[in-house]
Amino acid sequence: MSDPAYHRHETRHFPPGFLWGIATAAHQVEGGNDKNDWSRWERVPGRIQDGSVSGLVIDHWHRYEADLDLCQELGNNAHRLSVEWSRLEPEEGRWDGESFLHYADVLRAAHARGLKVMLTIWHFTLPTWFADLGGWESPRALELYIRFVREVARRLGDQVDFWCTMNEPNVYVSQGYLSGAWPPGVKAIVRSQLVALKLAKAHRLAYRALHEELDSPEQAFRAQVGLAQNVLSIEAYDQHSVLDWIGVQVIDFWWNHLYHTLTRGCHDFLGLNYYFHFRLKRFNWPPTSFFVEVRRERRDTSDVGWELNPAGIFRVLKDFERYHLPIYITENGLPSQNDDRRKRLIVATLKETYHAINSGVDVRGYFFWSLADNFEWEKGYVAKFGLCAIEPVTLNRIPRGSFSVYREICRANGLPHEMLRYIGHAVDQPYEPLATGVHAQPDDEHPKP
Ligand code: BGC
Repeated sequence: MSDPAYHRHETRHFPPGFLWGIATAAHQVEGGNDKNDWSRWERVPGRIQDGSVSGLVIDHWHRYEADLDLCQELGNNAHRLSVEWSRLEPEEGRWDGESFLHYADVLRAAHARGLKVMLTIWHFTLPTWFADLGGWESPRALELYIRFVREVARRLGDQVDFWCTMNEPNVYVSQGYLSGAWPPGVKAIVRSQLVALKLAKAHRLAYRALHEELDSPEQAFRAQVGLAQNVLSIEAYDQHSVLDWIGVQVIDFWWNHLYHTLTRGCHDFLGLNYYFHFRLKRFNWPPTSFFVEVRRERRDTSDVGWELNPAGIFRVLKDFERYHLPIYITENGLPSQNDDRRKRLIVATLKETYHAINSGVDVRGYFFWSLADNFEWEKGYVAKFGLCAIEPVTLNRIPRGSFSVYREICRANGLPHEMLRYIGHAVDQPYEPLATGVHAQPDDEHPKP
């Protein structure tokens, strides 16, 4: 019989003030905008897997109050969202006052519900006029982006607690300039790397611009500026293959660390989006079959085949500890029609995060992707990422079971022991006095049949 003294039944608490939130992005939830490169891209048949266009999406533009109510109901104390550049600057150099006012209302509504705001300035979509100039390849790209950044800072800056200058530049470059699955649909290695370098420069400039616009002269106030970067955990399938080990180092550096190396000194915090774990097998060229097809091994995967590997976040967090900066998990989630998977993923990922914090990593917040099913880029509406489903036609938000799981965690600022049952750790049944008047003994190492 196990010794109950070794078995902790209390909540695994996160540090006081830990941020709990939801992450969203404008184009994926707002709806009703046809002024960016994505709304044009979607209209070409064959580009979106389910043949959909984003359209009204979930009409967050009009329903943001109700959505923020749901975040409050979750017990959140923070919220990550993005502004849509093409709404704020629909034509080059013309600022749309009404859209700025709209976002000011949204940010105020978030604060009114006790949510700190993390604002992403650029989350994948570009105004069509900017795309037509050549997008990030335009010689004017940096000047135009920084002008936009400054305008957002001046008009919305007093309502923002944390800034992400951009979202996942590595994903943007690989989807837009390597695989060509996203606009501008280019497949060219050299061009892709030139854009990557330009985005690193854009971040450095935006970092400085935000500090210039927002910091008080005597530095009594300093803006908190970073970005949200996609990070992956990767391991060699065969631990003894030197070539694969080298492959892991190369991919890890290129995907996880190159951007941070190019932007060193321009982060007040690190924003990490964690979704992926890869097992590298046969490091060769061309890189067509680098990775093990984990479905063959019957591993837990999302609906689109990504391996679900919560333990990977521990490795990633330990790895990023080297930058000595506060870390926010700016996105984590999965596309799954099976909500049990979502519950499991949330609990298991947060348990690993808890261990990382206890091992000394300065993790300060977690933002789940996302509140409700939404428009998942080239996958359209088939990928279900939401704590809430969306009812067709009415667009009503229908909370799933995972909504309650996340709510319990946020409200407790930690993982109630009870929650561990989702990851195969049995817990006491509700306390029921036995007929003899003797209470059942808690012994969750030996669950009663
Ligand atoms: C992006 C989101 C996307 C999510 C799920 C992240 O890469 O920031 O826009 O919806 O992952 O794929």
